[in-house]
Amino acid sequence: MGRRSGDRILSDALSLSFDLLAPEPEIASARLGERYLSDLNGYFVDEDAYIQKLAENPLVYRVWSWEAGSGEGDLICGFGILQPGKVGNEFFFTKGHYHEWREAAEIYVGLSGEGYLLLEHEKSGESCVAPLAVNRIVYVPGYTAHRTINTGNVPLTYLGIYSTRAGHDYGALAEKQFLSVLVDRDGKPTLLDRSAYRTQKTQKGDNQRSELGE
Ligand code: F6R
Ligand code: ZN
Repeated sequence: MGRRSGDRILSDALSLSFDLLAPEPEIASARLGERYLSDLNGYFVDEDAYIQKLAENPLVYRVWSWEAGSGEGDLICGFGILQPGKVGNEFFFTKGHYHEWREAAEIYVGLSGEGYLLLEHEKSGESCVAPLAVNRIVYVPGYTAHRTINTGNVPLTYLGIYSTRAGHDYGALAEKQFLSVLVDRDGKPTLLDRSAYRTQKTQKGDNQRSELGE
């Protein structure tokens, strides 16, 4: 049963049930992408900790993309599950990207767990973190790099809803990385300048790393 909207009949194909907390989530008619730690080479500041953890090469996140329509005005819904964990003091995160079509904004909806979206404006470099958790939504404006970060002890699950025209530009960030990092400082997620954090890590050496909570 359905009713006509434009040239499309509204039907069950436009409605989807999902359970991201199921032991083995499956989302019918959505495309699954998986990222393991080995896919994030060069993204974490602490290279020694990265290499150590690579021995296990854990799954860091899964994203299903559901495209109910592929026209210019249609929307994609991404379903994300980001695992808890850290590399050194940096919390697990998604790669992060700009949209190829820079004007394209996105809405994130938190479903469970605790985390943040790291946002960085392409032109000004201005950055901030916005909490992402149950009953929270975050608006990601155009021209803004965005990365999801899990600061909790359980998987962070969320939706990201964006235009089919948006596309993903990973290259720009892979080269320069975000200007900020979110690290665990005395049990609190703390936003730091990435290059200062890197310098601090290099200068402090192994003996003093314990001061940073490692
Ligand atoms: C889509 C979007 C999300 C991310 C997902 C994985 O535009 O922002 O669905 O794709 O959180 O992150 P990335 O794509 O950065 O690996
Ligand atoms: Zn996006």
